[in-house]
Amino acid sequence: MKLTVIGSGYVGLVTGVCLADTGNDVVGLDQDASKVEMLNRGECVIFEPGLGEILRSNMSAGRLRFTTDKPAAIRHGDVIFIAVGTPPKDNGEPDLRAVYAVGDDIATHADRPKIVVIKSTVPVGTGDELQARLDRRARVRCTVVNNPEFLKEGSAVADFQKPDRVIIGASDAEAAAAISELHEPFIRNQRPVYTMARAAAEMTKYAANACLAARISFINQIANVCDALGIDVNDVRRGIGSDSRIGFQFLYPGAGYGGSCFPKDIQGLIHVARRAGVQADLLESVHQVNLRQRQLLFNRISSRFEGDVKGKTVAIWGVSFKPRTDDIREAPAVVLIEQLLEAGATVRAHDPEALGNLRGRFGDRVVYCASAYAALDAADALAICTEWNEFRSPDFQEMRKRMRRPIIFDGRNLYSLDTMRRQGFEYFGIGRASSPAAQTGPTNPADTPAAAQNREGCVR
Ligand SMILES: NC(=O)c1ccc[n+]([C@@H]2O[C@H](COP(=O)([O-])OP(=O)(O)OC[C@H]3O[C@@H](n4cnc5c(N)ncnc54)[C@H](O)[C@@H]3O)[C@@H](O)[C@H]2O)c1
Repeated sequence: MKLTVIGSGYVGLVTGVCLADTGNDVVGLDQDASKVEMLNRGECVIFEPGLGEILRSNMSAGRLRFTTDKPAAIRHGDVIFIAVGTPPKDNGEPDLRAVYAVGDDIATHADRPKIVVIKSTVPVGTGDELQARLDRRARVRCTVVNNPEFLKEGSAVADFQKPDRVIIGASDAEAAAAISELHEPFIRNQRPVYTMARAAAEMTKYAANACLAARISFINQIANVCDALGIDVNDVRRGIGSDSRIGFQFLYPGAGYGGSCFPKDIQGLIHVARRAGVQADLLESVHQVNLRQRQLLFNRISSRFEGDVKGKTVAIWGVSFKPRTDDIREAPAVVLIEQLLEAGATVRAHDPEALGNLRGRFGDRVVYCASAYAALDAADALAICTEWNEFRSPDFQEMRKRMRRPIIFDGRNLYSLDTMRRQGFEYFGIGRASSPAAQTGPTNPADTPAAAQNREGCVR
């Protein structure tokens, strides 16, 4: 089938690449000319495991190319996917300008009937509004379908190729059947395809993300109670997660959820509920708990240093909002770095993939370190914000040697309390009854922040 995917970001690129890989003829359209140039050179513009290889093999096979040429791209596809961003406005309402702008482009350039598939996450009613605009403006029949995307950054290719389910929101049976057929190669393991009303599909995506976000805020709140009462939340987590009605997924306490979806979609759903005249107090609490949770690491650091963070050096391990991605949108680490810099601290950051994006955000205000250990040089504390595998079993002796003070604020609960005690770290986890009573090692006087700036692989 001839397909066009508009927007070559995390969702659009994965969609286009995976659909080319099953034999479709795909054109990716993006307004960002530099992105399109890179993609046409076979360079993957995002870090997503496995994506680059499939991108290049399908480009070589002639089934996939990228362009900024709107009219040509829109004429190409019998099916046109819309995968542009829907960021929140200041009031939390999703900004749909890009979706409607793309709709208007389709109306202008469509030369034969098209199926227009909204992959972007959009509020209930967006499909109807887009359909009405297309009906008014297009010369040919354009049928709008909602087909929300559930991929997770970090395992996006696998998620797309083996979805838990496919949701198709359509009022036109023929259009629904065409989109279902496109997904057939991915659901051979008996995964269900649910066809429903467009509004129900839009709501399903929001409800799924809200449910996951609620679990995270729930366990974070439980963790904070545990912390205050001297209980290790890990025991509690195991105790409740082994109940088959509850399960373990999304029950890991941490420094708050981030990324381009949960924070935005919770606010989007609150907006949808309010517009429908429904009180959204549970959803509002999920959001508020998360905003507070993202302050937790800074508050702990500040209180450990008695409110005097100025002049302290803080190492940060992990800045992406989760492992296996370079995406730093709404990442807890970004919130923490902002607060540390504001308070006058020096920040030395390491992340296996996301330092480029961090530099785009903070410029020379942060010291960027090529290795996790280099980030620790002369640090007064380490804050762990992302659970990359490489942080799970570090050489604790090496860490102690490099740090000025052996203090760890662990926003991902990577280490056991026993290990931390044995290794002589002052350790603050999330909901771990973190106690400054753990052995505190001596300050390492040989190290100064200035000396640390220029060591191995660290640059501003
Ligand atoms: N990132 C995820 O994990 C994820 C998962 C599921 C759903 N979603 C949803 O998918 C949508 C896209 O998210 P993303 O993370 O891929 O966004 P993104 O910001 O990574 O990519 C969006 C792309 O669209 C392009 N674009 C914007 N306006 C355009 C226009 N008028 N014409 C052509 N190109 C245009 C941008 O240049 C960019 O490359 C959002 O609604 C998001 O909520 C994202």
